Amino acid sequence: MMTNNRKLTAWVKEMADLCKPERVHWCDGSQKENDELCALMVRGGTFVQLNAHKRPGCYLSRSDPADVARVEDRTFICSRRQEDAGPTNNWRDPVEMKETLKKLFNGSMRGRTMYVVPFSMGPLGSRISHIGVELTDSPYVVVNMRIMTRMGQAVLDALGAEGDFVPCLHSVGMPLEPGRQDVPWPCDADHKYIVHFPEERSIWSYGSGYGGNALLGKKCFALRIASVMARDEGWLAEHMLILGLTAPSGEKKYIAAAFPSACGKTNLAMLTPTLPGWKAECGGDDIAWMKFGDDGRLYAINPEAGFFGVAPGTSYRSNPNAMDTIRRNTIFTNVAMTPDGDVWWEDMTDEPPPRLINWLGEEWTPASNKKAAHPNARFTAPAAQCPVIDPAWEDPRGVPISAILFGGRRAGVVPLVHEAFNWRHGTFMGSIMSSEMTAAAAGKIGVLRRDPMAMLPFCGYHMGDYFAHWLSMDKRTDPVKLPRVFYVNWFRKSADGKWLWPGYGENVRVLKWIFERLNAPPGEGDNAVRTPIGYIPKPGALDMTGLNLPEANLRELLKVDTREWLDEIPSIREHYAMFGDRLPAGLNEELAALESRLRQ
Ligand code: OXD
Ligand code: MN
Repeated sequence: MMTNNRKLTAWVKEMADLCKPERVHWCDGSQKENDELCALMVRGGTFVQLNAHKRPGCYLSRSDPADVARVEDRTFICSRRQEDAGPTNNWRDPVEMKETLKKLFNGSMRGRTMYVVPFSMGPLGSRISHIGVELTDSPYVVVNMRIMTRMGQAVLDALGAEGDFVPCLHSVGMPLEPGRQDVPWPCDADHKYIVHFPEERSIWSYGSGYGGNALLGKKCFALRIASVMARDEGWLAEHMLILGLTAPSGEKKYIAAAFPSACGKTNLAMLTPTLPGWKAECGGDDIAWMKFGDDGRLYAINPEAGFFGVAPGTSYRSNPNAMDTIRRNTIFTNVAMTPDGDVWWEDMTDEPPPRLINWLGEEWTPASNKKAAHPNARFTAPAAQCPVIDPAWEDPRGVPISAILFGGRRAGVVPLVHEAFNWRHGTFMGSIMSSEMTAAAAGKIGVLRRDPMAMLPFCGYHMGDYFAHWLSMDKRTDPVKLPRVFYVNWFRKSADGKWLWPGYGENVRVLKWIFERLNAPPGEGDNAVRTPIGYIPKPGALDMTGLNLPEANLRELLKVDTREWLDEIPSIREHYAMFGDRLPAGLNEELAALESRLRQ
C-alpha cells in the first residue's frame, strides 16, 4: 500500500469486497508498469503492437462492435430529488440505483485484477486541480488514463493522509468464472450503466470499456461531477478548448471555446494560422476548468493531460498538428490497420490504401461497402507531444481567459461572428446555442438541436440552475474583468449549398478581429457595428488579405436578417419552456429584448 489515506484504503477494501477481484494492483504510473500492462494486453489480444518504426510505442485496439461510443441513454444523474437533475438528464432515485448497481458489481471482477488508479485532473499542486481515484478491472482503461490524466504514486503523495478525492468505480461487467475464457474486449453490452451521484460526488460505471463511459476522469468527473462542484464553489467546468493567440506585436491572449461534437473543436484548438505573424498554441481541446484569480479574472486549466480525439477526418490537410501528435506513444481504438502495421481511417489520405484490416478485424479493400475505421474511432495521445502545445498549458495558476466563444453548425441565419453586448447577453447566446446534427450523433441529420454551451450531455444538474450560475459570474467579480463573449459559425452555406467560409487555418481572420475587439472598449468603436443580435465586424474590419473571397460571400457571411432571426424566436421559446420556473428571469428578459430589437 502506497498511501496512508484512510478514506481511500477503506473505500478500496469495501469495493474489493463487493467486486471480488482475484487481486488488487495499486498503479504507480511508471513506464515499467505501463509496458507490462501493454505486453499483457498484446498476449491477450486486446492490443496489437503497431509498426515500431512508423508508430513507435503505439498500439491498436478493436472494441466489441456493441461498445463503440458514449451511451447517453444509459447515463444517469442520481440526485436525491428528480428536479435537481433537470429535464436534460436521465434521473433515477439514488437509493434504488445503488441497489441495482450493488447487484451488478457483486462479484463483477471475479478472476480479474482490480487496478487502483489515482489520478489528478489538472497539474498536481494547482489550486484549480482535483484528484480522483478510479477502480477498474480493465488494463485498457489504466493505460488510457495514464495518457489522459496525471496518474500514479505522485497523486497519492499529493493526496496525503487527509486529502479528498472523487471515487470512481468501473467494471467491464464480465467476471471470469473458473474455466471461462477471456475475450479481447470484455463488456456487458446489454447492461451498461454510467451513473453519477452528484451529492456524494461519486461515479459508478458498469458494462462498457469505451471512452467517456470508462475513462471516468473525462466526461463523468471533469464535466458532470465537476459542474456540480463548480456550482457549489463558484467556478466553471466547461466543455471548452483553450487556445493561446499571439499577435505579430507579441501580445498574447487566451480564448476558450465551446462547440458541440463534430464542429471542429480539436481543429480550432490546434489551428495553423494563415495570417503572417500570428501564432496559435493549444492549451486543451475538450475541457476547461475556470476559477477566479486574486486579480478577479477567470483563469483556466485543461484538466486533462492527453487528447482523446476522433480519428476519421483527421489528416495533414485538416489538422497537421494532430497528425504529428499521434506519431508515437498513442493508443488507437477502432481504426483500420495497413499491411505493414500502420493505421488508416477515412479521409486520412486522398486515396485509401489498396488493402487494410478494418476495425472489425476483417480484410478490407476500397471496394468494400463498409467503413474501414469506425466513425467514432479514436486516438489517445499525450498532450505534451503536440507540436503547438502552449508553453503555459501546465501552469498551475492556469491562463487568464480574455474571450469565450460559442458556436455550432448552422447553414443559415447565424453570421460568421458576432459579439455579445455584455455578460448576461453572452450567457443568453450560450444558452440558445444550436447546431445541425451530424452523422456523428444518432438523430436526423441536419435537424436543429439546441445544445446550451455544448453541455447538453455533460451538465450534472438542472440546466436552468446552470444558466443561473453562469449569470451569477458578473456579481462575483468586476464585470469588466470577465471574458468577452462571441458567437462564431464557420458553417454558413450559400443558397446553392456551398460553404461560404474556408474554415481551418483561415479562422485566424475571425480570431484576429476578436483579438482587436478585446483591445477596444466595449461598444461599436471603429471595427464593429451594432445589430439587433450583437456587434459584427464593420465592413473592412475583417482581415481578408491573401484570401480571394468574393465580396458577395463576405456580405452573406455577415448578414443579419431580421426576418430569419424573428423566425428563431418561437424555437428559442420552446427550448426555454423545458426549464420551467428554473429558467432565470434574466434570460427571458434577454429573449424579450432581442425580440424587441428585431422588431424596431
Ligand atoms: C468527446 C465528446 O469525446 O464530446 O469529447 O463526445
Ligand atoms: Mn468533448
